[in-house]
Amino acid sequence: MKFLEENLLDHLQRPEFAELLSSLSVKQFSKGSFLCQPGQKDNFIFILASGRVRVYLGYEEKEFNLGILTKGDIYSTHAGTFVQALENTDVLMTDVTTFRREMAKDSEVTKAMVRVLGNILKTSFSIIDGLVFKDANSRLVAFLTGEARRHGIKEDDGIRVTIDLPVEQIARLVGSSRQTVSTLLNDLVRAELIIRSGRGTFVIPDISLLESVGGVEHT
Ligand code: HEM
Repeated sequence: MKFLEENLLDHLQRPEFAELLSSLSVKQFSKGSFLCQPGQKDNFIFILASGRVRVYLGYEEKEFNLGILTKGDIYSTHAGTFVQALENTDVLMTDVTTFRREMAKDSEVTKAMVRVLGNILKTSFSIIDGLVFKDANSRLVAFLTGEARRHGIKEDDGIRVTIDLPVEQIARLVGSSRQTVSTLLNDLVRAELIIRSGRGTFVIPDISLLESVGGVEHT
């Protein structure tokens, strides 16, 4: 069905949506300007008519891109995210009340919303995953290399270090869960960054390499 393949914007050009379209006002944003920022009280829904914007979270110097919106994508100013024009961009805007009254029931609008929000959710999951995983990983590596540098014994195949703690206790030391630490240890073994050598003992073939992979600085 051609109708379903239409971009939301083309869809809104159809004669039966003339009234609905007139409830949307065109707004222009120049490259680099913000359509919205967290904490703003505006409550608008907008559809991109042209250009590209990026949706992101920002904390101090850190920025996490959640997605890039292009023509036909729909989004809102109340999502608590930054939305910044990557190029000169035109949007069709309406307030939440008008959107609910005129557009919320339209299946093409729903489809566009699901597409945008689904993609943003997917990216959010991978950001959360990365933050949690990378954090725990570097804490675990810092713990292992710290123990190895303090108490390890230099041998032909690397530094032998005896941790002699159950995974659960290592997890508590590095502020993570038993499952995560167990997965991370297996990953390190698979990557040959550590070698299991009996109960509670590991051999670290190249401690500097392990530190650099874990983002740990040797002090
Ligand atoms: C495609 C983008 C979006 C559209 C079209 C949209 C639209 C709407 C509409 C129409 C309402 C009013 C619902 C009602 O009163 O019955 C609403 C409420 C709300 N939206 Fe969105 N939204 C979008 C994205 C988001 C995102 C990404 C977030 C959060 C991350 C969000 C958070 C909320 C919250 C918390 C409310 C409830 C506000 C309240 O009742 O005080 N929305 N949204």
